Amino acid sequence: MSSVKKLEQVYEGKAKKVFKTDSPDYYIVEYKDDATAFNGLKHGTISGKGVINNKMSNAMFALLEKNGVKTHFVEQLSDRETVVKAVKIVPLEIIIRNVAAGSFSKRYGVEEGTALKCPTLEFSLKNDELNDPLINDSHIIALGVATEKELDSIKKLAYKVNDVLKEFFAGIGVKLIDFKIEAGRLSNGEIILADEISPDTCRFWDAKTNEKLDKDRFRRDLGGVEEAYQEIFKRINSK
Ligand code: TMP
Repeated sequence: MSSVKKLEQVYEGKAKKVFKTDSPDYYIVEYKDDATAFNGLKHGTISGKGVINNKMSNAMFALLEKNGVKTHFVEQLSDRETVVKAVKIVPLEIIIRNVAAGSFSKRYGVEEGTALKCPTLEFSLKNDELNDPLINDSHIIALGVATEKELDSIKKLAYKVNDVLKEFFAGIGVKLIDFKIEAGRLSNGEIILADEISPDTCRFWDAKTNEKLDKDRFRRDLGGVEEAYQEIFKRINSK
């Protein structure tokens, strides 16, 4: 697989670049240190983030594969580069929450840290111009963003990811508060897990102290941003 050749860039997002390869079945993603928040209003750099997010995402994808979840992960090429299966991303942010925080707490007036009686699932339409609006099942289907069958697979995938990750993080003294994932379609139409799983896309709180170990430190100017990414990565590697 390391024989795959990196060709031209096909996409640049806020935290990653995606490159074509000499095989139509594979892309190469490259993780950057750039950080943004509030739909790009806030910009910064988190030194070393790209390396941690690359390695951590790959470790999480490997764990999920071991537990029966199909992902886009193929092979890590370097500190920042990974070969992934070529997919068409379903333009949805798929968000699971175990504990109230962030936009959920704001929207419903629920104190951050309130445990939810069951995990919740919500979707936002990935569209920067519209500020990623919340979207419901019938709108997703009516707009042709995904079919009903695809939505069913996406929901099953999301809850399974939550089950596996929640247990894994509990084992390293971390509460998985919430997270965002993205799904992609393979050329045969199959839905698999794509994008990344990192402190950029999850909320992690220390199980004992509730200290935030994720990008909220950057979003909210809490300081200790790099250290939080390093701490999560250290705990993952201690397992
Ligand atoms: P929220 O509470 O701001 O809606 O965020 C929920 C989860 O989704 C949180 O773990 C952070 C993650 N997230 C992203 O990965 N990308 C985004 O653009 C946003 C807004 C949230």
